[in-house]
Amino acid sequence: MGCQYFDPCENGAETLTIAIPKYSFGRGCLHEAGARAAGHGMSRVGLFTDPGLRGSEYVATVMESIGEAGIDVDVFDEITIEADDASVERGARFVAEGGFDGVVSVGGGSVMDTAKASMLYALDPPDDFLDYFAPPLGAGRPMPRRLLPHLACPTTSGTGSECTSISVLRINDLETKFVLANPVLLPQEALVDPACAETLPAMVVASTGFDLLCHALECYTAKAYTRWERQPDPLKRPLIQGANPWSDLAAREALTIAGEYLERGVNDAADREARDKLMWGASLAGMAFGNSGTHLGHALSYGVTHLMRDVTTEGYEIGPPFIPHGISVIVSAPSIFRYTAAAAPERHFEAAGFLQADLKGAGTEDSGEALAARLIALMRKTGAPNGLQGVGFGPDQVAALAASSARQARAIANAPRETNLVDIENIYAAAMSY
Ligand SMILES: [Fe+2]
Repeated sequence: MGCQYFDPCENGAETLTIAIPKYSFGRGCLHEAGARAAGHGMSRVGLFTDPGLRGSEYVATVMESIGEAGIDVDVFDEITIEADDASVERGARFVAEGGFDGVVSVGGGSVMDTAKASMLYALDPPDDFLDYFAPPLGAGRPMPRRLLPHLACPTTSGTGSECTSISVLRINDLETKFVLANPVLLPQEALVDPACAETLPAMVVASTGFDLLCHALECYTAKAYTRWERQPDPLKRPLIQGANPWSDLAAREALTIAGEYLERGVNDAADREARDKLMWGASLAGMAFGNSGTHLGHALSYGVTHLMRDVTTEGYEIGPPFIPHGISVIVSAPSIFRYTAAAAPERHFEAAGFLQADLKGAGTEDSGEALAARLIALMRKTGAPNGLQGVGFGPDQVAALAASSARQARAIANAPRETNLVDIENIYAAAMSY
């Protein structure tokens, strides 16, 4: 099946490019931070974290290790729970004034994404913040070829940002999130200590777990890279290049992990095996989608966080409105995969199998339904909100949600089906509750 999916197409891509950082995984490996920073020639480090983690043992371990390596360190923790332009402007000032020769980030996706973007905005400041974003939002300004070396240490099991060349930022004036994607944003090294996941509240494990699950599911079902137009200039080849044999490899394993361990990891903080596996799965999913792109799951999540009002989520210390990223993705996911299955039924069938869906007596024509049913079951077992109504939306907001998400053009074009505005409205309408 895989071979057919990647059959050559006229004028389609023939070459794929994969980028991942040097990668370490293991309990206690945060003690290696100093040696690893020294290995990149760092002598003065800007350490990015957030206010909640600043006093944590994880940050203490990393600081101690960096100190023992004879490296100076200054800490920046003025990061909101969602990486935004204001955090990046503060972070860029920190980098510009700090005289650093390296950056270490300790935190979730917001911290790592802020660290990436802060280096960019410090080292080559644009006139307008939006210049680096792709048109029509920004000017598609070229990024410098090199930032500072970056050692990324994730403390949650979802984003995969330690393994991606992507920084997702909320633009506060526009009340919505947009994506910076460029190979220069890839950390040089990732240091992943799964012990960091031990203290996460259940709803954080659920949200980040659904994020990793959807990263894997979206890249496994994305349009084949051979169906994207050929890009002869290797330096211009986009990260969102479609499903490919590499992303398949990592996504399959990440889906298998989510199918086996998501429910256990959410519902039992003492289940070390499950939480360790989710941490590993999050990195794998990052290595996958960072080299393929996501599609409708993530594209449609941006409308949800754009238009959310008066909603909060248990387990997160933040005032309304707030929907954690993974929840903003999963609430529409069953409806999305019912819709996309028609274009790639075998892929959806395989993905449902990796997630341990009940496929007894089912054929590929049932794959959308089987996959949706499995996602809904996982949502129920982990206490996730029931669809868009579960996070405060009603049917009268469908048009506004669709208009907002339609701006994520490249991700939408990475879906296996050609998707127009009416399709997106229909997907949202069918995602109100399950
Ligand atoms: Fe995500």
